[in-house]
Amino acid sequence: MTVLRDESTDSATFRQLTEELVTLLAYEATREIRVEPATVQTPVAPATGVRLSDPRPMVVPILRAGLGMLEGMTKLIPTAEVGFVGMVRNEETLQPVTYAERLPHNLAGRQCIVLDPMLATGGSLAGTVQFLVDRGADHITCICLLAAPEGIERLKELLEPLQIPTTLVVAAVDEKLNEKGYIVPGLGDAGDRLYGVT
Ligand code: PRP
Ligand code: URA
Repeated sequence: MTVLRDESTDSATFRQLTEELVTLLAYEATREIRVEPATVQTPVAPATGVRLSDPRPMVVPILRAGLGMLEGMTKLIPTAEVGFVGMVRNEETLQPVTYAERLPHNLAGRQCIVLDPMLATGGSLAGTVQFLVDRGADHITCICLLAAPEGIERLKELLEPLQIPTTLVVAAVDEKLNEKGYIVPGLGDAGDRLYGVT
C-alpha cells in the first residue's frame, strides 16, 4: 500500500501491485463463497472435497479503475463469470454517471463480487450494488483497496435495509474525504494512476 500511495510510483508498478493486493484480499473475500461437495479419486482412495456451486459467482469490476483488479481476482477463482459496469464520477457534483452495463438480466441466486479500488463518497459502489440487487443478486462482497469512513457509512445505509448478506473487504481505511471528494491521504485518482489518461 505504501508504494501504491507514493506519487512517484509509475503506472506499470501500480498495476502490478494492484493485482497482487487483490489476490491477497480475495482470500478474505471468498470465505463465504458457496461450494458443494465433490468427490474425486486419488491414486489411493476416493476423497471428498468441494467445488464452486452453480450458479457460479459473478465478478463485477467497476470500469475503469476496477478493471485493474480483475486479473488478480480471476487468478483465485478462474471459473467465475464476469459482468461489467462502467461509471464515472462527475467531479463537480460527485454523483456517478453510468455509461456502460453488461450484466445478465437475471442474477437470482447469484453471489456477486464487486471490484473498485476506491470507496470515496460511496456513490459508485452503492449504485453498482443497487443494480445487482435489483436483478436478484442475493449475496454481495465488495473489494476495495482504500475506503473513506464517509463511503463506508453510505454503503451501510444502502445495504442494511436490503437485508441480504454483504461484506466489504478493504486493504486500508483512510482518514477522510477532502473538499473535492478525494480520499485523504489516499493515492490520488486510481484510474489515472493505473492507465495514465484523464
Ligand atoms: C473512481 C473510483 C470509483 C469512484 C469512487 O472512479 O474508481 O469508481 O471514483 O468515488 P465515489 O465513491 O465517490 O463514487 P472514477 O469516477 O474516477 O472513474 P474511473 O474509474 O474511470 O477513473
Ligand atoms: N476516486 C479516486 O480515484 N480517488 C479518490 O481519492 C476518490 C475517488
